[in-house]
Amino acid sequence: MNQLKGKDLLRITDLTTAEIQGLLDLASKLKSGELQPTCNKVLGLLFYKASTRTRVSFSVAMYQIGGQVIDLNPSRTQVGRGEPISDTARVLDRYLDILAIRTFEQKDLETFAQYSDIPIINALTDLEHPCQILADLLTIQECFGSLSGLTLAYLGDGNNVANSLLLGGALMGMNVNLGTPEGYKPASEIVKQAKELAIDGAEILITEDPVTAVKGAQVIYTDVWASMGQEDLAETRIPIFQPFQVNDQLMSHADHDAIVLHCLPAHRGEEITDEVMEGKRSRIWDQAENRMHAQKALMASLLGIV
Ligand code: CP
Ligand code: NVA
Repeated sequence: MNQLKGKDLLRITDLTTAEIQGLLDLASKLKSGELQPTCNKVLGLLFYKASTRTRVSFSVAMYQIGGQVIDLNPSRTQVGRGEPISDTARVLDRYLDILAIRTFEQKDLETFAQYSDIPIINALTDLEHPCQILADLLTIQECFGSLSGLTLAYLGDGNNVANSLLLGGALMGMNVNLGTPEGYKPASEIVKQAKELAIDGAEILITEDPVTAVKGAQVIYTDVWASMGQEDLAETRIPIFQPFQVNDQLMSHADHDAIVLHCLPAHRGEEITDEVMEGKRSRIWDQAENRMHAQKALMASLLGIV
């Protein structure tokens, strides 16, 4: 994966189909222990939002390849007090080898990338969550052997995770069905881009009918109804999103062998029931584990150590 050396991952579309496939295959080899790269590099984590999986999986992945991690908590660094991103970025560039950022605005992430030469990784913005989607695709590949031709149904908010799934799924030849209430669809540019990027005849379907979305799908996916930064909207959204809850009834319309994924954290009883989360179709814990393997593959590739 030498072609990724020195690059940024700001959006899932920064990767080609071949590069995503290469990262998934590399992640599998890292997971099985077939490959064990080592380095003496330092990863910075600059997270403006809470995180369990992303923070810990990035950290452990870096430790496992021999590197070190610095947690640049914005409330304890000057950027949190208003130091311009363009200044902070140029300074961090001189210390760190790679930097993962979780923030609100995609344009702030882009400013970091513009002012630093080290690889900048999107660890979630309001627009996208590309690292999550790499782990999701790895999980789906493990379950079904390959990706092209499968149908993934996402139920819920047309948010960051939905955007990256649409684009990443299309790049891998997966049909992506989005079941969202009216007014919560992803931006039309994202849908258009996904349709343009789709390979192998993959289709993108945006529907307000949850049953239509899951019909015949092999992968059923959901995320919270109110994302970080939208906490005040959570209560008003519950009745609007209720018909899109992933429950046993909705699952009965999915493919016989369908699996269930959730990026987590989950609000049990809202977007997904306890029964489905703990049920036999759930691959949610494998999916969470795969964050670590996928990000190890990503970092090793961006750092040029594989
Ligand atoms: N899925 C995910 O990104 O989880 P965290 O918010 O815990 O990092
Ligand atoms: N859509 C969620 C994902 C959390 C991993 C959020 O942005 O809060």
